[in-house]
Amino acid sequence: MPAPLRLGLAGLGTVGIGVVKIVQRHASLIEARAGRPVQITAVSARDRTRTRDADLSAFAWESDPVALARRDDVDLFIEVMGGADGPAKHATEAAIAAGKDVVSANKALLAHHGQALAEAAEAKGHVIRFEAAVAGGIPAIKALTEGMAGNRITRVMGVMNGTCNYILTRMDSAGLPYEVVFEEARSLGYLEADPNLDVGGIDAAHKLSLLAAIAFGTKVSFGAVELEGIGKISIEDIRHAADLGFRIKLLGVAQVTGRGLEQRMTPCLVPADSPLGQLQGGTNMVVLEGDAAGQIVLRGAGAGEGPTASAVMADVIDIARGSRLSTFGQPAHTLATPVPAAAATPAAHYLRMTLLDRPGALARIATALGDAGISIDRMRQYGHPGAHAPVLIVTHKASPRDIAHAIGRFAATGVMVGEPVAIRIEEV
Ligand code: HSE
Repeated sequence: MPAPLRLGLAGLGTVGIGVVKIVQRHASLIEARAGRPVQITAVSARDRTRTRDADLSAFAWESDPVALARRDDVDLFIEVMGGADGPAKHATEAAIAAGKDVVSANKALLAHHGQALAEAAEAKGHVIRFEAAVAGGIPAIKALTEGMAGNRITRVMGVMNGTCNYILTRMDSAGLPYEVVFEEARSLGYLEADPNLDVGGIDAAHKLSLLAAIAFGTKVSFGAVELEGIGKISIEDIRHAADLGFRIKLLGVAQVTGRGLEQRMTPCLVPADSPLGQLQGGTNMVVLEGDAAGQIVLRGAGAGEGPTASAVMADVIDIARGSRLSTFGQPAHTLATPVPAAAATPAAHYLRMTLLDRPGALARIATALGDAGISIDRMRQYGHPGAHAPVLIVTHKASPRDIAHAIGRFAATGVMVGEPVAIRIEEV
């Protein structure tokens, strides 16, 4: 009988317990698929006394994840603790130093230290895999590294933070303002301990930077992601965008253009009838585009016990089968240093503003746009009782720099009430 693959599991939160349940519930199915038994031998978590929804009595206990990573009866170290530094990093480094393979669900750790960790592991002939770190149960990494291995990847997009998508779609469907839905999300337990990881776009940007590294064969460059959260999205913009046939999403886009590697995690308008526009609630979507395959759309649960543990187990079973796939789909030392794009690809933009309703007001705005080289595609002025006119403009393609330049000149027109809003419209 082939030797079992022995797992050391660090972290017994939602994901860790999900892993325990799958290993216990599907032992024979996993053995059949992997060609050998897969067993948990030891576990580690901060608090041993906490009541947990799984039987852990058969496993050795380590209070220190570093000690767990070094145990002789652990072949593969699973890190589902979280955190970019601290215990997660120390234990992962200890596992690599001790010659273990690693499976991680930790996007923050990989976005910041993935290059160094992968190089260290691969230098010793070991692997780090992280399917669970990107979009939970969606097999996005497998799709890129295996399913699309024969393609030049042209673009990667995604809605990869379920909490943000929940907030935006709930604002839309219930007509509630951001602040109210944010508190609702908090009371439902949807927000990370630091909510800015979610609503500030950081969590989703971690994931995008990992996909970009695989897609374009470049070192992870999380620091180069253009980042803007959803905190400024108003119910007015959601309504007006819908009126024009769009929905607002916190959308990640990575592509290589003549300008270099472009990585953006920003609110964007997408057509309401596109797969991204149709995405509701806490669900995630990853869109992969290759020169041979065309566009592949993957939709599923981006978080939660079952989906995230499912992705952890996909990596575990791959390793049990003997797969030695590199962390980023090619040896980490061969990844190129990316040249970050100095400017984003031109795009149509949605502009919303309130103007003083007097002769020539619109003409002044049109002139400011024209002077910046921006052409108007569509325009709508809404009926209004008072002296302030709500105006929407959709531009033809323009560089974000030109849009910012034009907006900078709006103030000098003397007809602007309050601050204008500009949101990119992504072609999806
Ligand atoms: N807070 C994340 C989300 C969980 O809402 O998608 C997975 O990273």
